[in-house]
Amino acid sequence: MLKIDFLVSNEECENVLEKASETLPKHLQLKYRLLLEELFSVMVEEISGARAQIRIQGSIPKVVLQVKGEKVDLFSNVKWNSDRNEDLQSQIRFNLFVDNADRIKQKYNSRRKLNTYVLKEPSKAKTTEQKIDEFYSKGEKITPLKQILFFRELYTFRFLFATAVKAMRSAPLIVIPIITARLIDLIIENEANLTNIFILIGIGILSLVLNVIGAHFEGTVFKKLIHSIEADIRSAMVRKLQRLSLSYHNNIQTGMVTTKIMMDVDRISFIYNTFIGELFQLLVYIGAAAVMTLLECKWMTLFYLLCIPVAVAVSVFFRKAVAYRNSEYRKDQENANAAIEEMLDMINLSRVHGLQKNESTRVDRFLNKIKKSGTELDSLNTLYSSLSYVSLQVFQLVCLLFSALMARGGWITIGSIALFQSYFATILSRLTALINHMPEASRGIESFRSVSEILCINDVEHSGTTKVNHGMRGRIEFRDVCFKYSDKSGFAMKNFSLVIPERKSIAIFGGSGSGKSTILNLVTGSLEPHSGHVFVDGMDLKDLDLNTYRHQIAVVPQTAMLYTGSLYDNLTYGLPYISRSMVESILEAVDLKDFVYTLPDGLDSVIEEGGANLSGGQRQKISLARALLRRPRILILDEFTNALDRKSEMNILNCVKRILGTCTVLIVSHRVETAKMVDEVVVLRGGSIIDQGSFDELVSKDGPFHDMYSKH
Ligand SMILES: Nc1ncnc2c1ncn2[C@@H]1O[C@H](COP(=O)(O)OP(=O)(O)OP(=O)(O)O)[C@@H](O)[C@H]1O
Ligand SMILES: [Mg+2]
Repeated sequence: MLKIDFLVSNEECENVLEKASETLPKHLQLKYRLLLEELFSVMVEEISGARAQIRIQGSIPKVVLQVKGEKVDLFSNVKWNSDRNEDLQSQIRFNLFVDNADRIKQKYNSRRKLNTYVLKEPSKAKTTEQKIDEFYSKGEKITPLKQILFFRELYTFRFLFATAVKAMRSAPLIVIPIITARLIDLIIENEANLTNIFILIGIGILSLVLNVIGAHFEGTVFKKLIHSIEADIRSAMVRKLQRLSLSYHNNIQTGMVTTKIMMDVDRISFIYNTFIGELFQLLVYIGAAAVMTLLECKWMTLFYLLCIPVAVAVSVFFRKAVAYRNSEYRKDQENANAAIEEMLDMINLSRVHGLQKNESTRVDRFLNKIKKSGTELDSLNTLYSSLSYVSLQVFQLVCLLFSALMARGGWITIGSIALFQSYFATILSRLTALINHMPEASRGIESFRSVSEILCINDVEHSGTTKVNHGMRGRIEFRDVCFKYSDKSGFAMKNFSLVIPERKSIAIFGGSGSGKSTILNLVTGSLEPHSGHVFVDGMDLKDLDLNTYRHQIAVVPQTAMLYTGSLYDNLTYGLPYISRSMVESILEAVDLKDFVYTLPDGLDSVIEEGGANLSGGQRQKISLARALLRRPRILILDEFTNALDRKSEMNILNCVKRILGTCTVLIVSHRVETAKMVDEVVVLRGGSIIDQGSFDELVSKDGPFHDMYSKH
């Protein structure tokens, strides 16, 4: 792990950037600032304890990196040609920090006494997260019992401690009946002097103190353990969802997934409550009762042992029916959640079409199903607990009769009647509680099955191992790519070949379903070719580490994704090291600066959920600005102006125009204006290219694009 300790403050950085960019011709300022920001971020990531200075000499920037007093001139080996402004980018990128970063990193890495790096060997021991992910990664369904045992093993020590705490809490219920029995016997035998009484009461008080100590730890140890397991399962599910393939996400209803993450995990915690809480306490009582009765009268032990199989038999008898009803109830709840979520997503559309009633009726159908399955489940549960209560009470009466007869025959003392009766009542009440909780526990077991439906899925996104660094150029090549969404569907891309050179822009045209979005998803690595290859900088995309690769790309989707929070947070989403001046210059580039000044809190103004307090154009500009702040090597714009009026669209396309040439750009658009500003245009039909060339070439020949253009 590399400790990052970058000494250049944001303000320092901002001043330097301000000055640096002022010296350059206006049209290069933004590009240059982007590069310097990138340089800073490389240093932040690569070099610990570094202090950067940028000095300006004419229009040639001079960057000096200072590490603990030692200066390293990054430009010493670089031959600058300030006239060839268009090459500034390559000069900085390839001569400066790609080479230098490695060199400096090695130099300072090897001289550790300078204390510039704090490199920690990654710990060999697996983290809890790794253990959980590994457990669920086997690809086959894992039974609830295996899952319960896995978490018990994962937290062995905490489980043992929790068990000890539970045992402490049981102390009075074991000790006080013994004291009562002894006291009765002493009184009957006329031996109840004050000392004996006080000793017995003292032991009773001690057991109560143990109970209080146990109660104190119960909150901190036992409940904490259960909440840890809940949190572990939830975050494992979230991690898994982040890794699952795009096709999985396309086919799943989000309402169903949230039910699994929130409600099912809640129910799982009940298992541990029931099994550690109830079952363990019951075992403690049974153990104590067995010892006491064996000491007093072994016939009584035999009698106790009889009632356990009967209770288990009652439980097993109902278990199957309850499990089936639980499963039905859970599925109905998931379906209803999904339906409600869909209803909320479509609420605007259904209202303007006057379909409120249809929507309510549709959701009601799901709610009625829950009502029916919930009622059936509850009535079964009620019958279940009533029958188990009656059967256990019958046993208690029989116990009273049995012990009374034994006392009458002189086998046991009168005090022992109270002891047996008290133990028996406790055991029965615990057993009844356990049996009553069985339906909830079996719901918890069902929930283990439910969460494993996500955790055990194999359909994860494939990622290679080759890490992509900041020097990525962004050259894309499709070579004979064929792709289909499923075995049943036809090919969405057929022998598709295309080269997009670095920093060039391409516009993709074509009718609905012609494969435009499929191409973009192939570039992001969200889809993998069925055959053929996608190369980035000459490397097969399937060999690249998707995580590092995706740090180099940015996507502006059709609908802007904004969350509740400040404008600044929305813009810098996922970017920890970004200066405010950088944000402002990007806002200027996308024509949002004036708008932000009109907001009461400027960049700190709050954006409502989904950007409800912004216009469609503003939302898309924020989305574009966010993408640009990532300093992408590949920028993907998928019909991102579709929802805008013509004026806003032209306005935002002009913003895009300004950044062309800084990175590779893929634009899917229906507007012919887009074609005019890019380097190359591709027209698709049925997943194949039917026309290709620059705008001028295509309009001058009689091809599909020419037809489209003339109709426009
Ligand atoms: N998730 C999916 N499952 C099955 N087929 C799909 C899926 N997504 C797209 N397709 C099919 O693949 C083909 C290409 O779809 P794609 O989404 O790439 O088209 P598009 O050109 O982006 O269309 P549009 O302009 O409507 O967005 C279409 O025939 C479509 O029906
Ligand atoms: Mg599309």
